[in-house]
Amino acid sequence: SKRIIIDTDPGQDDALAILLALSVPEQLEVAAVTTVAGNVGVAQTTVNALRICQLASRPDIPVYAGAAQPIMRPLHTAEFICGADGLAGMALPAPEQAAREVHAVTFLAEHLRASSRRVTICALGPLTNIALALRIAPEIAGKIERLVIMGGARDLGNMTAAAEFNFFVDPHAAAIVFGAGIPITLFPLSATYQAVASPARLTGFDTDGPVQAQILSMLRRERPGGAALGGGEGHPMHDPCTVAWLLWPELFEGRDCHIDIETAEGPTVGRSTIDWWDRSGQPANAHVIGTLDADAMFARIANCVKSLDNP
Ligand code: BDR
Ligand code: CA
Repeated sequence: SKRIIIDTDPGQDDALAILLALSVPEQLEVAAVTTVAGNVGVAQTTVNALRICQLASRPDIPVYAGAAQPIMRPLHTAEFICGADGLAGMALPAPEQAAREVHAVTFLAEHLRASSRRVTICALGPLTNIALALRIAPEIAGKIERLVIMGGARDLGNMTAAAEFNFFVDPHAAAIVFGAGIPITLFPLSATYQAVASPARLTGFDTDGPVQAQILSMLRRERPGGAALGGGEGHPMHDPCTVAWLLWPELFEGRDCHIDIETAEGPTVGRSTIDWWDRSGQPANAHVIGTLDADAMFARIANCVKSLDNP
């Protein structure tokens, strides 16, 4: 099995990504969940990560709370999409476990430094924790097998016309991470907007188990007024694409590209300039996903998460 760490700001689509990862213990060993400020503040993303592990009957998964603020910019959150507690549409009890005492950045640095195996990181929120860990312990770059990142936009952004949310929130962190020489697979919005949870794609989930019932209730929740970004037929499931790629790479196509992150303040701050046509001749620093088979992906996710209801 592959050992992974999930760095996340749950968030409904983060929640589904975590549940998917926890549903396939033979393929993915989740060593830890680290949390970051993003969709909501870090105290709430941490509570949410704990609630999701509890929903999956995995209260043993260690959760580490991370950065409360981006490296340079003031925090922007997304309650307008994900609700005041970040998990609108789900109704989860308060967690029985607490987060570990150690800060997520310290954990990442120490765990990776000491690890004899290389670890894959699924990065589902602003890249603050990962960038800070690379700054305090640059040698951990060699311990990261791959970063599978949801972030950026090849075309239009969802936070501004230029920028996707995760990279808009902490563009400096994104710039550090893309400059670190670590193998990266990137899921920009142009890919994840193909993963809309349309009614036809929900038929594989049953309401007969508590986990699937929560997932369905989250996926069927009403879309916030006017937020027709990337679909309309359902909510785009950005973050689960990263875990799905680890499990079923044959459902995805992409190409190796050079990417630059805009850190200068102004209308394009947070933009990811993805050189899809290789106009610059600069060496690729990521494998960028272009297309995916969303019907197959949702069918397989539904199939996997059933095991959380029938342990
Ligand atoms: C990203 O922003 C967050 O709101 C989602 O969880 C996803 O990680 C999409 O832009
Ligand atoms: Ca997220």
